[in-house]
Amino acid sequence: MAESMLGLKRTHRCTEVTEEMAGQTVTVMGWVARSRNKGGIIFTDLRDRSGILQIIFEDKDIGAQGLEKASTLRSEFVIAVVGRVEKRAGEANKALKTGNIEVRATELRILSEAETPPFPIEADSKTKEELRLKYRYLDLRRPDIQRNLILRSRIVTVIRNYFMNEGFLEIETPILQKSTPEGARDYLVPSRIHPGNFYALPQSPQLFKQLLMCSGYDRYFQVAKCFRDEDLRADRQPEFTQIDLEMSFVDVDDVIAVNEGAIAKVFKEVLDIDVPLPIKRMTWNEAMNRFGSDKPDLRFGMELTDVSDVVKGCGFSVFAGAIDNGGTVRGINVKGQAEMPRKKIDALVDFAKGYGAKGLAYLCVLPDGTYKSSFAKFMTEDELKALVKAMSGEPGDLLLFAADKVNVVWNVLGALRLEVAGLYDMIPKDEFNFVWITEFPLLEWSEEENRYKAMHHPFTMPMDEDLEYLDTDPGRVRAKAYDIVLNGTELGGGSVRIHQSDIQEKMFEILGFEKEDAYSRFGFLLNAFKYGVPPHAGLAYGLDRLVMLMVGADSIREVMAFPKVKDASDLMSEAPNVVDDKQLEELGIRIDIKE
Ligand code: AMO
Ligand code: AMP
Repeated sequence: MAESMLGLKRTHRCTEVTEEMAGQTVTVMGWVARSRNKGGIIFTDLRDRSGILQIIFEDKDIGAQGLEKASTLRSEFVIAVVGRVEKRAGEANKALKTGNIEVRATELRILSEAETPPFPIEADSKTKEELRLKYRYLDLRRPDIQRNLILRSRIVTVIRNYFMNEGFLEIETPILQKSTPEGARDYLVPSRIHPGNFYALPQSPQLFKQLLMCSGYDRYFQVAKCFRDEDLRADRQPEFTQIDLEMSFVDVDDVIAVNEGAIAKVFKEVLDIDVPLPIKRMTWNEAMNRFGSDKPDLRFGMELTDVSDVVKGCGFSVFAGAIDNGGTVRGINVKGQAEMPRKKIDALVDFAKGYGAKGLAYLCVLPDGTYKSSFAKFMTEDELKALVKAMSGEPGDLLLFAADKVNVVWNVLGALRLEVAGLYDMIPKDEFNFVWITEFPLLEWSEEENRYKAMHHPFTMPMDEDLEYLDTDPGRVRAKAYDIVLNGTELGGGSVRIHQSDIQEKMFEILGFEKEDAYSRFGFLLNAFKYGVPPHAGLAYGLDRLVMLMVGADSIREVMAFPKVKDASDLMSEAPNVVDDKQLEELGIRIDIKE
């Protein structure tokens, strides 16, 4: 029995009704959160996106028929109520913003009835995520998700206003683009008009924003949907949103300055948190050596220590051998965990192996000063003493070591450091610790493809002082690239771009592109550069990650309205799905699925 709202107009959202309005008549509309019939008097919690308001139905105000109707109310019915605002007769409910008032109903309309939802609509849901995502439209009614999406909207508004004030223009770039693989895997879209041809969905607006600089737009900004066919994780979705920007006639410091302003503004306005400026900076090399990561979590210590010099030529062949083979031995000191049970240490060894370690050597400095260790028997007392000293080891400490090529050691200890800190609650929760990582290597060597690949992308400018090594020793060239990292998450990244065609051509050469190949992929950009291109630079934030960290969620799925799950499907709409033969025929596509 759905009634019309004809003649009624909502006057307030639930929590816009306040104590000061006592005596006033209001019209409120929303969902029934719950309804309790106390015999002759019915208490209903009305919910909308602002929160909860208590409605009271009693015969003397609404009449016998109205009370009868109110007694049919069940969770998730959509209703309209006209009533009088009153101070609560009973005890105030401190948990609610409207806890000291109620609305005494004089009219009730049931706008829509509802089946019993498959899970309760409440905060801190214990419901399994699969079920929540299958009924996402119900999940989105839950107050914690609503809070996340409301904050997300606030964040975007503040950022947009900030960049507008800084002279940025918001310009849209195409979603149907040319496929220019040199990053993640593309999502492809078949062309009907050009059978056998495909568009790619943008991995980012990178090339187009650079073209906008060529065209003189000077400062560009966009809230941009991006698509990457990658394996999903808690902070990765196939479809995500970037706050993307590009600036002309600037260098690294200019981009950093304008973005620090944006970060400070959004944290102040949305969370009332002061981000101290300038944000600290750390070179990539320092980050890797101290934290084993290019996105170091600086909320806790447990830094890596290089003990190669101390264990060189020692009796433990794993250590000595790694160094003889051009590798390194480094360790972390887990303070106060010397008495970690063997089982837990073994679990850490397995964890390290999952990150490519051949093993993980440990040394417990027991409270009485003796050692328990996987390798102590291979070393002399003096060698052990020197090692413990180098690690600043004290009685009670657990020392963990990896010996391998430096890349492996960074990777293993970087991950281990986070794992141990997580397990033993060493990470302060209420801190926002920002750092810029700068001076990234321009290139990284791909063993798989036996060639250099661009660490950021092929349009990133080498550092001026390293230009001379482009020919002789490209591996040592650092880039004018920077990432903004927050609490161990890469929030955003960018670079100064190459605007000189000779450097760009050299870059393509190093990446192993033939000139023709480079032109067939990126010709539109290279040609544009022939007609006058300003020096330019930019950056893109992962908006979903920013919101996740700002609201304190542990997955970006909690801050996106309709996210996908690990296998990149949407459990609610059941995308992706098979399409009609007719659609395929029009596109000239035949399906041939290999097992
Ligand atoms: P980059 O590839 O570093 O740079 O991406 C910028 C930021 O986007 C976020 N991000 C993601 N968020 C969710 N899911 C994903 N799959 C995902 N992939 C990336 C990250 C990342 O820091 N065009 C360049 C930017 C530039 O040079 O201006 C770019 O896209 O937070
Ligand atoms: P093994 O001689 O292989 O029994 O190893 C002795 C100890 O050294 C064990 O605790 C291994 O986990 C550890 N280990 C082996 N390889 C490495 C390595 N590359 N780095 C650190 N520890 C290792």
